[in-house]
Amino acid sequence: MPCVAVGGLSPKRTASKSQRVIKRLERTIPASNRAVYYPMVVKEAHDCTITDLDGNTYLDFNAGWTVAGVGYSNPEVIKAIKDELDNCTGLSAATFPTETTARFAERLIEVTPGDFEKRVWFGHSGTDACAAAYKLIPMATGKSRIISFYGSMHGTDVGGLAMGGHHATARYPVPSLVTKVPYAYCYRCPYGLEYPSCNIHCASEFIEENVLKYITPPEDTAFLIVEPIQSDSGDVVPPRGYLEKLKRTCDKFGIVFVDDEVKIGFGRTGKMFGIEHSSVIPDAMALGKSIASGMPVGALVARKGLMEKGFAITTLGGNPIGAAAGLATLDVIEKSRLPENAARMGRYMMKLLNELKERHGLIGDVRGKGLIVGIEFVKSRRTKEPARKETAKIVYRAWQLGLITAYVGANGNVMEITPPLTITKRQVGRGIEILERAIKDVEKGMVSDAAVRGYTGF
Ligand SMILES: Cc1ncc(COP(=O)(O)O)c(C=O)c1O
Repeated sequence: MPCVAVGGLSPKRTASKSQRVIKRLERTIPASNRAVYYPMVVKEAHDCTITDLDGNTYLDFNAGWTVAGVGYSNPEVIKAIKDELDNCTGLSAATFPTETTARFAERLIEVTPGDFEKRVWFGHSGTDACAAAYKLIPMATGKSRIISFYGSMHGTDVGGLAMGGHHATARYPVPSLVTKVPYAYCYRCPYGLEYPSCNIHCASEFIEENVLKYITPPEDTAFLIVEPIQSDSGDVVPPRGYLEKLKRTCDKFGIVFVDDEVKIGFGRTGKMFGIEHSSVIPDAMALGKSIASGMPVGALVARKGLMEKGFAITTLGGNPIGAAAGLATLDVIEKSRLPENAARMGRYMMKLLNELKERHGLIGDVRGKGLIVGIEFVKSRRTKEPARKETAKIVYRAWQLGLITAYVGANGNVMEITPPLTITKRQVGRGIEILERAIKDVEKGMVSDAAVRGYTGF
């Protein structure tokens, strides 16, 4: 049973109100539309904490899957939304644009890397942003093929499913001209090689000598789409030089480089965008999630000329309410120096987690950049056998103890930590303390299999 107030370490209280709503959700929302890790229904969320319907308060290490980068219910974002709502609710920006949308597009052009002329395509989600690349870049280049990566997540519409290499979407029968290649997952290198002696074989050599030669000829290949950190498949951080090698291959063969920043963009990695940890300037960038702090907005920012052909509006794409929220979000990120805080707090968290790793053999790997962090749990460090059930139990127990986390990855054995970027050192410390207690409790066998049955994430 949940739960404790933030900072406490002993589970208590009931969850009767939440349980009643959960039953209603189960009767109305299909399983395909939910990802459940524990039985929780939210009453309110502010900054780095969430309170459930039964009055239990939790420290949040998830940020609504990174949406709440500036913290939940940020007052400046709320004010901007309310002001705009009073003015122009209901407009379709494609035909009846406002100045707010123009300003938002200008700001996005300004903050994204690349000193060249760009355009901004607006939709409602990260899925939309990736699908815009899928639709528009082949039209613009006159080429129909695409390269993406094992483990990648680019959304759940048909374009995203075609490009995605995520285990959760692998069974959809989507016909496509997308070729998927292994990502640089060094902890479990698909080629059995080791960095740096591998010379990052998975990047250029494999793609140039095999993929472009036998499967997707460069003259037919429109673009390559890649996450600078592959989040939903286990918060995999590629080695230094990987993204640069991919970009060199793209440039050599005239292939457009698309950077999917939907999950990690807007300060999370310690820089405004994840790609900025490399020297790569992408031709296009997919944005979503935290872009407007919870208003449904997605955007594809691309070189001029890559999105001009075809017809791809959605009625509410670029709507002024989302644009106002996006502008306020950017203001908060810049004014509060959130990327700097993410870098500092990320370093502190990594130090604590590496200490935790020394004390707990269940932790096989700890990785991340800034405040996107993954803890890969294994049954044995030697065999690296994924500790799937233990991971689900640790996430569940941490929730019981007052800490919100989730797990991701093809083996369901990576705890993902992505708190709001406003998190303080004290909160980081307290969260890791709760996490260690959860690990210890699972090691002692205090969480039964039955407790986590039915909570399968995605
Ligand atoms: C890298 C990446 N791209 C695209 C998407 C799709 O975004 P959304 O679910 O907001 O449509 C996700 C979702 O997790 C993602 O992680």
